[in-house]
Amino acid sequence: MSLAGKVVIVTGASSGIGAATAVEFAKQGAKVALVGRNETNLKESEEACKKANNKVEIFAIIADVTVDAERIVKETVDKLGQLDVLVNNAGIADTGHILDIEVEQFDRILNTNLRAVFLLTKYAAPHLIKTQGNIVNVSSVAGLRSFPGISSYCTSKAALDQFTRCIALDLAPHKVRVNAVNPGVIITDIHKRMGMTEEQYAKYLEDCKATHALGRVGEAKEVADSIVFLASDKSSFITGATLPIDGGRHAMCPR
Ligand code: NAI
Repeated sequence: MSLAGKVVIVTGASSGIGAATAVEFAKQGAKVALVGRNETNLKESEEACKKANNKVEIFAIIADVTVDAERIVKETVDKLGQLDVLVNNAGIADTGHILDIEVEQFDRILNTNLRAVFLLTKYAAPHLIKTQGNIVNVSSVAGLRSFPGISSYCTSKAALDQFTRCIALDLAPHKVRVNAVNPGVIITDIHKRMGMTEEQYAKYLEDCKATHALGRVGEAKEVADSIVFLASDKSSFITGATLPIDGGRHAMCPR
């Protein structure tokens, strides 16, 4: 995969897709800067990476992507010497009908899912140009398709997809690639963080058998494997792509 010795930032690395992605990069021999807000959870991710490969350097940065973007990039480069890959994975979701939601929700979601990605991209770009590195953004099927009752999240991910394409064109002359993955429903904590009870979550996962063509939800590792692919030289002629990792959900249309 040509990732040995590369320096990778993974945001939101203390759980779910981010934690699985950090482990897969470690397995490939990459040096990983893990970014998260919770020290205990980040430590667990660090241990998981070291268990996967005890020879690679793992660097935990306790930071909030909405306020610490410049520091995240600076500390990574200071500590690990360069930057080859930025994985913008940290994200939040929330539901609500337009008749009920507050502007606070819209601002909060866009601040994390879009504005923080803009900031990290801006500060990382000069370093990625030096290494001819790349960026992988973690978007969603909600960026490609529309769903009722979750407009702030869908809008943030659709904007992230467009940002991915625009920055791919900005950075292409510098040989820096920019891509996104668009997962369908993946088993992580995100749905319970949105307020689903255990019962609601179990029913949701059952319903997902019908909403995903392959008849099941996905696992974090299935997304992580695609992120690693897009970050590696195996995808050297791919830029500006939004890759669905969703068991065919994006291709479906109820009738
Ligand atoms: P998760 O909730 O386990 O992971 C999100 C991580 O981002 C958490 O560790 C959280 O603490 C971190 N984070 C949130 N705001 C942050 C901030 N301001 N600063 C630093 N870290 C912050 O959920 P999951 O599923 O692993 O989510 C990862 C990404 O995947 C998100 O961008 C999400 O939108 C996307 N996604 C997830 C899907 C799913 O079904 N699980 C489906 C499609 C996309």
